[in-house]
Amino acid sequence: MSKRLELCWPNKDKVLLGLDAHGEPIWGTKDDIESRLLVQLEAVGQVNPDYPNDLYAQGDNLLIKGDNLLALKTLERHFAGKIKCIYIDPPFNTGNAFEHYDDGLEHTIWLSLMKPRLELLKKLLRPDDGMLFVHIDHREMAHLKVLLDEVIGRQNLLAIITVKVKDPAGVGQQSLVFDVCEYILCYARDASSPWLKSMPRPFEYRAEVGTAKGYTKAIVDFGKPKLVRELERQNIGEIRIFQCVGYKVEKLGKTTGYNDYISHFDRLFADYNPSGGTILQIRDQFPASGLCYMEYVPTKGRDAGKLTRVYFLNRRILAWLKDIAEVDQDGQIVRKTKMTNLWEVANAQLFAEGGVDFTQSKKPEALMEKILGAFTSEGDWVLDSFLGSGTTAAVAHKLKRRWIGVEIGPHADSLCLPRLRRVVTGKDQTGVSKELKWKGGGGFRYCVLGESLFAKDDDTGLVMINPEYKNGPLVAAVCAMEDFALNDDSVLQGRRGNLFAHVTEEKLTQAYVDELLGRVPETCGLNIYCMKRDRQLEFPKDRVRVRRIPKDLRVPPYLRGNGNGGVQSQLRFVPPSQEEDPAMKRKPKDPRPLIRLLRNARLKGPKDWAANIDRYIYGPTAGEPEPEPTGKGGPK
Ligand SMILES: C[S@@+](CC[C@H](N)C(=O)[O-])C[C@H]1O[C@@H](n2cnc3c(N)ncnc32)[C@H](O)[C@@H]1O
Repeated sequence: MSKRLELCWPNKDKVLLGLDAHGEPIWGTKDDIESRLLVQLEAVGQVNPDYPNDLYAQGDNLLIKGDNLLALKTLERHFAGKIKCIYIDPPFNTGNAFEHYDDGLEHTIWLSLMKPRLELLKKLLRPDDGMLFVHIDHREMAHLKVLLDEVIGRQNLLAIITVKVKDPAGVGQQSLVFDVCEYILCYARDASSPWLKSMPRPFEYRAEVGTAKGYTKAIVDFGKPKLVRELERQNIGEIRIFQCVGYKVEKLGKTTGYNDYISHFDRLFADYNPSGGTILQIRDQFPASGLCYMEYVPTKGRDAGKLTRVYFLNRRILAWLKDIAEVDQDGQIVRKTKMTNLWEVANAQLFAEGGVDFTQSKKPEALMEKILGAFTSEGDWVLDSFLGSGTTAAVAHKLKRRWIGVEIGPHADSLCLPRLRRVVTGKDQTGVSKELKWKGGGGFRYCVLGESLFAKDDDTGLVMINPEYKNGPLVAAVCAMEDFALNDDSVLQGRRGNLFAHVTEEKLTQAYVDELLGRVPETCGLNIYCMKRDRQLEFPKDRVRVRRIPKDLRVPPYLRGNGNGGVQSQLRFVPPSQEEDPAMKRKPKDPRPLIRLLRNARLKGPKDWAANIDRYIYGPTAGEPEPEPTGKGGPK
């Protein structure tokens, strides 16, 4: 048993890979999580022109339909250490069956689903300044907190934010104490990093109606300073007091126009009697009337080491409006207060936001704007792997962040896709659109996770390569599985540092090996993945490894052994019997079937393969015809 404080539950050390036909869990290890291909179904709006061989290098936003465990594993190679902000809102395990997904799992199963996902999410975060926000309610909050402490590190907890989400008046609960709150557990990837210490503290903004209360006077002329006294105080040091000779203060009354008021913004003040501390002790030293200021250099606090001035009028201390408010882009005064861990965000129009009906668990765009606005900047990568109706992606897009959203349910097509399409075209004027003056722009790629590379032969029970994987997709899938990046070369198809990969469906002969070796630089190695091979092959063992597929690849545990295999409900937070989603019945909309896309990947020859692999694997970009099915490909 570990010596740390941690939560224990049955099968904690295993990874829940899915549920079988009987709804029984299929357990495996971290190594059994397959890295899959991403297959692009559609490019929406403006996306970067295709790069050969690398969907990810294009830096486009990605909407991915599929299980997030596989998706995160797939993203790991490309996005490890690159994501600035992850927000997830997993099913709260409420025990309810919602319209779009069911939400009632045995607690240990829920934890088993969360743990490997959190571990993968952690790997994706930027090492210095990455941040993770996990939205939850009281049901799993305590367990989740302990699990997050274990995975991300207790020392990295930044805040537990309580979000007031309901009003007691509207809550039809029988409970003794009405539950109106949800929580956001906020972690830094590394809370000890210098970035966090130097980051300006976030503010919350509230629009003032008219002029700011109490701030009704402005100093229009500070006059000329005249030194009247010098004092020495313990803890403060030297204090110099100046009188302002010839100063002018203007009172701004109700009749003053708002624009005049704003033009004095930097000099508007409220005055009050000092209530204690050193200032109260030395107040008698100031001139009894008129404007004066004290000058000193604080030894500690926010302004330590900086020459600081505090103004007094008739011995009353001045507080400046500019210290607690700003004039926004529309010329309105907005108050700013320090961000606290108690949040309330506007959600009156939530039902209409994004134009999607996602009852029960849609989150307000204002909430996402608050998180992304405070903790990310334009161009940062934002990820939500429980995308639901697409709120995080919609707001990230409007804030010009780059984003990845993963959703397993059919509402990836029926809700997220149309919602995000409306964001891109600018038709979506709900949520934070008006405030951000959102007019549309940008784009994203809509992808699905490719099928497993493996299948079980019904007759023999043997594990084989999924017949859908041939040529380009086979190469890409094997490279993904074996952690090679696709290389823009029809012979040396994959690359990991000094090691190349070549994948072939043809029989590996001595002539074939020799030809391949002739292409590999002397200082580099080669892994050859083949289905059949001659028994006697000669090659330098220190540089070349021959691997048989599928035998030498990591076959998922549900395909091993004698069972009939097959994951019925892949890693979804729902029991298999209830997978059918009513949303699909209402709006049946089939994406281009994956099988057809993969069949299209039969290529004409090596050149064709090299030039087109990206298109064949990921599908054509918008407006481009689909590639035609052709004959065999490969390096020979
Ligand atoms: C609470 S909802 C998220 C709501 C979202 N924040 C919004 O504003 O619309 C949780 C979502 O996670 C999805 N989900 C559950 N298990 C998943 C999995 N294994 N992979 C991807 N998405 C999953 C559910 O289908 C559901 O849409």
